[in-house]
Amino acid sequence: MSDVVLEAESLAKTYRLGFFRKRVEAARDVSLKVQRGEIFGFLGPNGAGKTTTIKMLMGLIRPTKGHARVLGKPVPDLEAKQHVGFLPESPYFYDYLTPLEFLDFCGALCNLDGPTRRARARELLEQVGLGHAADRPMRKFSKGMLQRAGLAQALIHDPEVVVLDEPMTGLDPLGRKDVRDLMVALRQRGKTIFFSTHILPDVELVCDRVAIVVGGAVRDVGPLAKLLSPRLLGTEVVTRAAGEEAPRVAQLAGDADVSAFIRGALERGETVEAVSPRRESLEDLFVREAGRQGP
Ligand SMILES: Nc1ncnc2c1ncn2[C@@H]1O[C@H](COP(=O)(O)OP(=O)(O)OP(=O)(O)O)[C@@H](O)[C@H]1O
Ligand SMILES: [Mg+2]
Repeated sequence: MSDVVLEAESLAKTYRLGFFRKRVEAARDVSLKVQRGEIFGFLGPNGAGKTTTIKMLMGLIRPTKGHARVLGKPVPDLEAKQHVGFLPESPYFYDYLTPLEFLDFCGALCNLDGPTRRARARELLEQVGLGHAADRPMRKFSKGMLQRAGLAQALIHDPEVVVLDEPMTGLDPLGRKDVRDLMVALRQRGKTIFFSTHILPDVELVCDRVAIVVGGAVRDVGPLAKLLSPRLLGTEVVTRAAGEEAPRVAQLAGDADVSAFIRGALERGETVEAVSPRRESLEDLFVREAGRQGP
């Protein structure tokens, strides 16, 4: 089997809205390949076309142009679908079910036998931190708890490929850590994870590669270290003068003579408390790409 598990080839989706059939280009040109065994982050500002792309990959909407392939098969493909787990952007749950009943139902849809799906449901609820609420109806769940239930649902059939549309939404920092740990554990078992997000620190912590989509087109794809410019943006120097309460913080430009600045400070009798070079962060890259208009 090919090592590319998800593939978008020049995907485009145009909607026609209203009486005048005004064109909305939800996606214009999305190309990317997700390799087996990687955690791939799909980043972009609101309205960039992330959910639209994910829906095309999942076979929920048909592309206007381009091709989507899952596990090497053109979408939609029933056999390929059985190996994919999916968490939609705004999952909807039947209020009166407990997560245990809900997961049992999902497991049945995936043809798991009774004992297997019950064991799997219990295990997954523990993994997503809902063990204590396994028997509570989901209408009593908080937003973050519902998100966790959705995540468990995506994993019930132990899929090869896990596609998550904003899995961190609504989660507190502990919940986000749980999800990151879960992703890393899945990768260790050879699974592939593709997820969209705006939460940049999470991306920096877990993603092997990222794609940045802006205005319906992919701007950049690659390992984070490659996308971030290694250029020195500037240096922050913190000094303290004798008898002064507050430290002095100087922001030097990328090409400034930092040594000369420090010598000057020492000559004035200040102590140097910190010298921090600043290189491009994912946030800088994101703002740079999102701010650049047009293709
Ligand atoms: N069914 C639809 N009909 C018309 N326009 C749509 C439809 N779905 C999406 N769009 C438009 O396509 C664009 C991309 O939407 P999409 O939901 O893919 O963005 P996104 O990157 O997932 O954003 P977010 O980060 O807010 O979830 C938006 O301008 C949106 O208004
Ligand atoms: Mg979205």
